[in-house]
Amino acid sequence: MQNKPVVIVLDKNENSRKVLMSFLQDFDLIENIEVYEDYDRGFENIKKQNGEAIVIVDITDIDSDEFIEKVRLHASKLIITSTDYSTNTIVKALRMGAKEFLPKPIIKNDLLRTISSLINNDYSEVYSQSKIITVYSNKGGIGKTTLAINLAKELEKVTKCKVALIDLNLQLGDVSTFLNLNPTFDVSYVIKNFINKDEEIFLKAFERYKDSLLYILSDPTYIEQAESISPQDITKLFNELKKVFSYIVVDMSSNIDENSLKILDLSDLVLFTTIVNVPAIRNAQRCLTLFNSRRYPKDKVKIIVNRYIESDDIKIEDIENTLGEKIYWRIPNNYFTIMEAINKGICVSEINSNSNIANNFRDLAAKISDDIIEKTVMQYRV
Ligand SMILES: Nc1ncnc2c1ncn2[C@@H]1O[C@H](COP(=O)(O)OP(=O)(O)OP(=O)(O)O)[C@@H](O)[C@H]1O
Ligand SMILES: [Mg+2]
Repeated sequence: MQNKPVVIVLDKNENSRKVLMSFLQDFDLIENIEVYEDYDRGFENIKKQNGEAIVIVDITDIDSDEFIEKVRLHASKLIITSTDYSTNTIVKALRMGAKEFLPKPIIKNDLLRTISSLINNDYSEVYSQSKIITVYSNKGGIGKTTLAINLAKELEKVTKCKVALIDLNLQLGDVSTFLNLNPTFDVSYVIKNFINKDEEIFLKAFERYKDSLLYILSDPTYIEQAESISPQDITKLFNELKKVFSYIVVDMSSNIDENSLKILDLSDLVLFTTIVNVPAIRNAQRCLTLFNSRRYPKDKVKIIVNRYIESDDIKIEDIENTLGEKIYWRIPNNYFTIMEAINKGICVSEINSNSNIANNFRDLAAKISDDIIEKTVMQYRV
């Protein structure tokens, strides 16, 4: 049986320290409870626990960001509390790596449920849920692969969660070329041989990007292997991926066939990518009509304008009027940085982390993860 964990509470309010203490004392899954008014002293203790302790930090009266970032490095099982439970505060707490946010006054059952799920490593109860984010366009050469790769890398950096990048452009995948990888396994091999394995074994099927939390699965080596993949296989693969990764970023072809439709149907978020020219926008219109006919929820599809140039004749408002949808994000045109990244087989942020395009991908990743957390928080609140 695993050791019972220590719970460390940091709270400046005397009354709530007493209340928390009384709640936690009734809980026999815990070894010891240590309560601090002085956050620096509490932090010294957290550092000694080798990441094993359950840490509860109240952020009501503290200027939280820097302190929480520090705590997070030494405590993976972090619960944040506050009397301010606006959506902004909750999203911020979860962004900083808290496993759960508990509004004050704390309800005993909520506290005990959260601690049980942290002890059992069962995060199904807490906010973090796996999401499939697919980059799609029904036109080729629009920047899907570029976006998928750089978004996946930035999501991993911003969220510090495990992210998978899956190349489901089954016949003409570019991910391994763009990242200069020589993968041992590919999508079709994983579907045949790596389903229902332990996490440790499953992860071996992926190429890990430079020791980061980004794991990559490439397209099949031979066209015949790609042809043998069915929509049922896609479902099977996604179910496995969801057990292990917080974010699954999918690159795919611009075809509309039964596999593509399966990928799009199963995605939580479709980043529909276009560029600013009349044929691309006409195509976008057709594709949005298709999504409508498949009754995708309203905020499932987000429109991204790639290679955006401020001085373009066609303005963002013109595109929005034509499509009848808001543009979610614009990615600037920066051919040289992107080509340099592709030629060197690395991500854009590794060429120049201050370039307009690197900043743009980082901000997009932050926005997407915030939007996902916010949506999940709202669902919990209903
Ligand atoms: N924001 C950008 N600024 C400048 N060039 C870009 C930008 N995004 C993509 N490109 C260029 O566009 C070209 C096509 O990009 P990419 O291969 O990512 O598109 P794709 O939609 O995946 O294509 P395919 O349909 O062939 O899979 C690449 O040469 C890339 O350098
Ligand atoms: Mg591509």
